[in-house]
Amino acid sequence: MTPESPRTPEAPDTPGPVPPVPLTLLPDQGRLAGSNARYEKFLPDLHGLYRDDTAFQRLLADDDGSPVYWVESSQTEKGPGGLITGMSVLEPGRVGEEFAMTRGHLHAIADRSELYVGLSGRGVMLLETVDGQSTVVEVQPGQAVYVPGHWVHRSVNVGTERFVTLFCYAGDAGQDYSIIERAGGMQQLVVRAEDGWRAVPNPDHTGYVA
Ligand code: NI
Repeated sequence: MTPESPRTPEAPDTPGPVPPVPLTLLPDQGRLAGSNARYEKFLPDLHGLYRDDTAFQRLLADDDGSPVYWVESSQTEKGPGGLITGMSVLEPGRVGEEFAMTRGHLHAIADRSELYVGLSGRGVMLLETVDGQSTVVEVQPGQAVYVPGHWVHRSVNVGTERFVTLFCYAGDAGQDYSIIERAGGMQQLVVRAEDGWRAVPNPDHTGYVA
């Protein structure tokens, strides 16, 4: 008789393996085939995000109701070891001097990191820490940026086409958007410049409060 092979009992709330998830990247269509979630942001959702409210109101008056950015993502493991993988699509444009951007966030569990991979278009990641560091990293096709934990992050489209990235982060990370609102916006603005874009200090920024 063969003795039963030793087996480590799983905790009762630990689910077993879930099936692998094949995903097909369709940046030209702004789609992530095989994903199981989608959210969209529309221009009216972005009230107060840009400094130039007159320019914002002007765009709002001509708004055709299309989403200005959207995310398609896949999450099949709910535990702390699971990852969320998604595609972010940000339409080009400017509001006043500022380039089109996402709201930005700090992860609700602040030490959770994230990887962004540029798929199409020309963009930058604006990255800031609560203690006042601020940096901008270009993300063009074939470039990636690893965003460590504790960095507030936002995507900015500095080109004339859609800026599309693939991202991946811990499924339990969550998002804190209000940290930016409470600080009067991020520390730097990404604005138009003669040779493309530049980052300038945001005069409304009052400092982050964790
Ligand atoms: Ni994030």
